[in-house]
Amino acid sequence: MVIFSVLLIAVFGGITRVSTYNNAKVAVLGAAGGIGQPLSLLLKNSPLVSQLTLYDIAHTPGVAADLSHIETRAQVTGHIGPDQLGAALKGCEVVVIPAGVPRKPGMTRDDLFNTNASIVATLTDACARNCPEAMLCIISNPVNSTVPIASEVLKKHGVYNPNRVFGVTTLDIVRANTFVAELKGLDPARVNVPVVGGHAGKTIIPLISQCTPKVEFPVDTLTALTGRIQEAGTEVVKAKAGAGSATLSMAYAGARFTFSLLDAMNGKEGVVECSFVRSEETECKYFSTPLLLGKHGIEKNLGLGKLSAFEEKLVADAMGELKGSIKKGEDFVLNMK
Ligand SMILES: NC(=O)c1ccc[n+]([C@@H]2O[C@H](COP(=O)([O-])OP(=O)(O)OC[C@H]3O[C@@H](n4cnc5c(N)ncnc54)[C@H](O)[C@@H]3O)[C@@H](O)[C@H]2O)c1
Repeated sequence: MVIFSVLLIAVFGGITRVSTYNNAKVAVLGAAGGIGQPLSLLLKNSPLVSQLTLYDIAHTPGVAADLSHIETRAQVTGHIGPDQLGAALKGCEVVVIPAGVPRKPGMTRDDLFNTNASIVATLTDACARNCPEAMLCIISNPVNSTVPIASEVLKKHGVYNPNRVFGVTTLDIVRANTFVAELKGLDPARVNVPVVGGHAGKTIIPLISQCTPKVEFPVDTLTALTGRIQEAGTEVVKAKAGAGSATLSMAYAGARFTFSLLDAMNGKEGVVECSFVRSEETECKYFSTPLLLGKHGIEKNLGLGKLSAFEEKLVADAMGELKGSIKKGEDFVLNMK
């Protein structure tokens, strides 16, 4: 009888634990935007999400009403303006932030700093007050600065946990997988290229030597491929000719990252994603490397692995810019009133 009871407790205890994040409350901040809308659609379509709160400074009641008619169980609510931000965030396990302005042709991601820095700081401040333990997934650019900004704001509130703050760089991995697959005639879904460093120009460092399956390129092709991955965002900005930057592929990448995180929080083992996080792997305070995700966010930083000479140079060349962008973000919060 005792054994039976213990078994019952173990089974039902297990079910309760496993189902916690199958009932995850996820917030999208900037949900009415070019990324926010398709990202919210993908999240609404997932069995991992039971509550989806959509926050923006405009249009969220309409986006929420629209999504709420989809026959999946996630309850969708729309929240508009700062007065409704707290309600969107209360009880959230995961917050995804694509709020802010995107690039126009000729702009770098850093040109967005002046507008997006304060947006990310304000939104993180609200997260610190309303859901201090939530996983924060930051999409807003420049990611190399917005992740340090979010981290410093959380520190000010005394609620910073570096294992729970992620800069979403998944689109760089998605692009690298696609371009390698194109060149080698492979199924892109079976290609995995780790991309490390940061998320802007030369700080985006694809590790083609660590690609699975193993691939090899002559040096001129490798150089061109690396350049294309680094400038793929600009390829989209130019093609959209003033109508913004990547939104649909970014929504896919943001959803992929969020689902990996929820799977890992849910107890799935062996979930690995690259992300721009607080790091001890290089001399940069923040750096993207493959991360083993777990119930509490980052379980283990898997580090850079073995680099080719070509990749070692890319890492060395990125350090100056990356450190500058990180410091710019930290200084912004330091000087905030
Ligand atoms: N990490 C990446 O790989 C990646 C890729 C593409 C784009 N981005 C970045 O994502 C961000 C959003 O891009 P987009 O194309 O969706 O832009 P968008 O202009 O279409 O949408 C942005 C949304 O943010 C909202 N917003 C503005 N200020 C806000 C605030 N204070 N609170 C809440 N919402 C606010 C706007 O109302 C708008 O709906 C940009 O910074 C862009 O550079 C990142």
